[in-house]
Amino acid sequence: MATGDIYRALHARSLNDREAFWLEQASAIDWTRRPDRALDDSRPPFYRWFPGGELNTCHNALDRHVDAGHGDRLALIYDSPVTGTVRRYTYRELRDATAELAGAIAALGIGKGDRVIIYMPMIPEAAMAMLACARLGAIHSVVFGGFAANELATRIDDCAPKLILAASCGIEPGRIVEYKPLLDQAIELATHKPAHCVVLQRPQAQASLVDGRDLDWLRFVTGKPPAPCVPVKATDPLYILYTSGTTGQPKGVVRDNGGYCVALHWSMKNLYGIAPGEVWWTASDVGWVVGHSYIVYGPLIYGATSVLYEGKPVGTPDAGAFWRVIAEHKAVALFTAPTAFRAIKKEDPDGKLLRQYDLKHFRTLFLAGERGDPPTIEWAQRMLGVPIVDHWWQTETGWVICGNFVGLDPMPVKPGSTSVPAPGWDIQVLDAEGNRVKPGEIGAIVGKLPMPPGTFPTLWNAEDRFRQAYLAEYPGYYKTGDAGFIDADGYVSVMTRVDDVINVAGHRLSTGQMEEVLASHDDVAECAVIGVADELKGQVPLGFLVLKAGVERPHGEIVSDVVRMVRQRIGPVAFFKTAVVVNRLPKTRSGKILRGTMQRIADSQDFRMPATIDDPTILGEIESALKPAGYARK
Ligand code: COA
Ligand code: AMP
Repeated sequence: MATGDIYRALHARSLNDREAFWLEQASAIDWTRRPDRALDDSRPPFYRWFPGGELNTCHNALDRHVDAGHGDRLALIYDSPVTGTVRRYTYRELRDATAELAGAIAALGIGKGDRVIIYMPMIPEAAMAMLACARLGAIHSVVFGGFAANELATRIDDCAPKLILAASCGIEPGRIVEYKPLLDQAIELATHKPAHCVVLQRPQAQASLVDGRDLDWLRFVTGKPPAPCVPVKATDPLYILYTSGTTGQPKGVVRDNGGYCVALHWSMKNLYGIAPGEVWWTASDVGWVVGHSYIVYGPLIYGATSVLYEGKPVGTPDAGAFWRVIAEHKAVALFTAPTAFRAIKKEDPDGKLLRQYDLKHFRTLFLAGERGDPPTIEWAQRMLGVPIVDHWWQTETGWVICGNFVGLDPMPVKPGSTSVPAPGWDIQVLDAEGNRVKPGEIGAIVGKLPMPPGTFPTLWNAEDRFRQAYLAEYPGYYKTGDAGFIDADGYVSVMTRVDDVINVAGHRLSTGQMEEVLASHDDVAECAVIGVADELKGQVPLGFLVLKAGVERPHGEIVSDVVRMVRQRIGPVAFFKTAVVVNRLPKTRSGKILRGTMQRIADSQDFRMPATIDDPTILGEIESALKPAGYARK
């Protein structure tokens, strides 16, 4: 057989013999009630996977491995250079700690369908918190620590949690991020008030607790009877994960239990090429989808050992940190964002630190979260001498849309391409009229409905927004929001977003949301935010401000104000550091701001004068304003 034949046959079967294919994959999962069929397509364009099936995701991630005699196998290795800690948990230990935490949560009267927000850094208790909710059928929503109180408040109001599980602090290189003041402020801002907050006191910061509402984690958990796993419907939500929308209101991506378990289990072997018991490392954060799927649920459902790393690629303590972790724990694969490798490359371009470690068991590097730029991929390949697999996915899809299935049928790597569609994905590229384009031509990337198991069935409490945002523009298709092309070999390259989402150091952010903050400044009449190219972070946001007539304050002060406001309202993770003041913004005759053109000018790229531009002379003004800020230099 030729390379790719196994993949192609399997992919075709996943689409043409959908029922049999997915029910076969579902048999790898423990069900308390087997599903009647694979797909419920009775209400297009809404689809549900494994109707009639009942299971518990925590059971699949923990108990079943213990029951099968693997209780002494390592489930989690917590490696924290920022605290100088390494802690290991066997499957039995993790199951017991999770069951105890679940028992304590259940004692508060929280159960199936109730929402619990988890606001915690990269510590094992964060994984236990997620799994404990799953154990009870409660729906968790993890909020990333780099967001500001306002963002947390928005999520509290949207999902109305009964309980918030938090830690006293996160640790960033050089600073302790106290979570409790942010949490208190968020609850103050929110209309919905959770009944309880349970706070894990870390030695680095002592949080003050509010009488009657807040509970100390240790006291809360100790001595509680362990809770059993509660069977839930395959279609019941496991979690809600908020991601950037086009407005300040984030989208609550819903993940179900059944389809997710099946998809993740399949992916560990076939995409990532991992065997149960092997050590797998995803260097991301539990606050992102990658952390949900491949720090916590995927490796555990599959019975692998997952590394949970509280540190950075550089500075904790140096650019050899990743190699140390791989060597020390004998990780066979690493999954991270290209930006992490750009950071390492910048500090150790010749790989001197790399040579200090023994990486002979290391097999594959997986990259995602942003476009894998060929220079970074080629550098990683040269340094590591293993396949570098770029793969494409989104919060919405929960697992890969396109990748190279190294455990099934490794195919040649083409730097710059994310390889081929995952089973269940019929990926197409369409032009503005909705017609398929020729191979190699760029257009909107869409997926023919239904999407595979594991992808999102809807947005939390917002089915209409789900339909409008993703399904309306190309009827019968899921609009990914990405543009790119498919080459003659069927390889998919993802080039850019078609909306206002930007990717800053692998973090997904909305420029529209930043514009809302800028526009709320008293002196600002109009504004725009674009993502400009950045050597390390891929993209960084850049603001344009048009001031109200008569404003006499120095521009520098106003820029400092808006920088501070974005940090306070969205969070440090937005990395909004620069804005320029201009007299006018370039617009079309119908008043649409030409952000794409501004971006090309800032990045010194060639651009075609938009035919619909209202006043072409503004572009020169934009260019002049950008130069002193270090942009549009060529
Ligand atoms: N809690 C609080 N603050 C956080 C945070 C967290 N969990 N994560 C990041 N921040 C803050 C940082 O401290 C920084 O604040 P500063 O402006 O005061 O310095 C800001 O948010 C930006 O952080 P970051 O994007 O991490 O930039 P950096 O310069 O500190 O580090 C990289 C750059 C490339 C090392 C880092 O971004 C990285 O490791 N990225 C990989 C991202 C990733 O794994 N994404 C998941 C997709 S697979
Ligand atoms: P998130 O929802 O945070 O995972 O971000 C998803 C977005 O990140 C996608 O829509 C893409 O724009 C981008 N992205 C993720 N992985 C890749 C990749 N491998 N190549 C190009 N872009 C990617």
